Amino acid sequence: MNFGITEEQELIRRTAAGVAERLLAPRAAARDLAGTFPVEELRELATLGLLGVAVPEALGGAGAGAIAYSLAMQELAKADASVAVAVSVTNMVAELIAKVGSPAQQQRFVPALVSGKAVCGAFALSEPQAGSDPVAMTTQAVRHGDRWRLTGNKAWITSGDRAGVLVVWAKSSPPGPDAGAKGITAFLVEGGAPGLSVGRLEQKMGLHGSSTASLVLDGVEVGDDAVLAGVGGGFRLAMMALDGGRIGIASQAIGIARGALEGAVRYAKDRTQFGVPIIQHQAVGNMLADCATWLDAATLLTLRAAHKKELGQPFTREASMAKLFATEHAGKICDLALQVHGGYGYTHDFPVERAYRDVRVTRIYEGTSEIQRIVIARELLKQ
Ligand code: CAA
Repeated sequence: MNFGITEEQELIRRTAAGVAERLLAPRAAARDLAGTFPVEELRELATLGLLGVAVPEALGGAGAGAIAYSLAMQELAKADASVAVAVSVTNMVAELIAKVGSPAQQQRFVPALVSGKAVCGAFALSEPQAGSDPVAMTTQAVRHGDRWRLTGNKAWITSGDRAGVLVVWAKSSPPGPDAGAKGITAFLVEGGAPGLSVGRLEQKMGLHGSSTASLVLDGVEVGDDAVLAGVGGGFRLAMMALDGGRIGIASQAIGIARGALEGAVRYAKDRTQFGVPIIQHQAVGNMLADCATWLDAATLLTLRAAHKKELGQPFTREASMAKLFATEHAGKICDLALQVHGGYGYTHDFPVERAYRDVRVTRIYEGTSEIQRIVIARELLKQ
């Protein structure tokens, strides 16, 4: 067992930390208040290879693997979780196409995603009535001559209104008994395609610099060359992508929590009450000790999942454990970090207030904590 990271991984981490500190952190509070989407920031992150950290170099990515990706995501999320989620979904989409796309699909979509030309990617799986249970989706892909027409509504799509490349899932089975998971196909759709429009943009509790859109597909026409990894193979593909995505969200939660904890430690050293810095009061010290321990445990679980992914071993269970533990504990860490700040923590004067709001959704998107427990329990059943 080796707990060290390689020079290349450290270089990516340092690159992400540098740009996070220079470009993201100074404007994170303003972005949160104004709800500004980080177009320029994504462009700059692309130039540093951060939109395709684990994407092969041949397709324009950094080719640095899942551990480097997790480390980079942690650094970006520490500075601005809104930017981090757009980066996370873009990496997930680019990696998926690089892994299972045809050579033509790879060439057409992956360099556009990782270079920032497409601005970002989107993962259009969920629907108003099909969140935790994507097999219940009702978006249809119907054959018209030698083309497909996609019709339906997607919901909760991160960057759905901004993305130049979207993976859209739809039921492609012919009329008759529902084929369930096997009747779902993934299609590659370009932002602005005729028939694709943005419905409402959600007003959210946090992540104000990230957009969350519903999408209307009204006969969006695509050819067979838009089908990703075969007709009927879409559900497996979504699950496979989400295994990797969950490492990204665990990393995002770790980054947000690390920022909150570092802020709390700083504050607890500075703030004096009853004649001593409050960190010397056992009640406060205990809170910080618990937070630091949870954070390290979350980091180890997440890097273990990333390590198994890099080795090409199954990592479904490990990714779900990492997401479950990291996001649940990141929520607790942000809550306690805010408590340490007392009344100041409840104001915009300290970033912990934003962290508390931003971290909440990590327990929901890319599979709720309850779904992660289902995945882990099913994996235990297989043993
Ligand atoms: N890898 C590969 N294949 C997998 C898989 C995985 N991790 N998990 C399941 N499959 C395969 C199964 O083997 C099965 O294939 P066969 O029929 O050939 O055996 C098929 O997929 C169906 O699997 P299940 O029967 O297990 O499917 P299910 O309907 O019972 O659902 C579930 C399982 C784990 C609960 C799944 O529905 C799930 O993960 N739900 C949560 C969805 C989710 O995370 N949504 C997030 C939306 S995206 C998002 O949030 C992005 C964003 O913008 C931030």
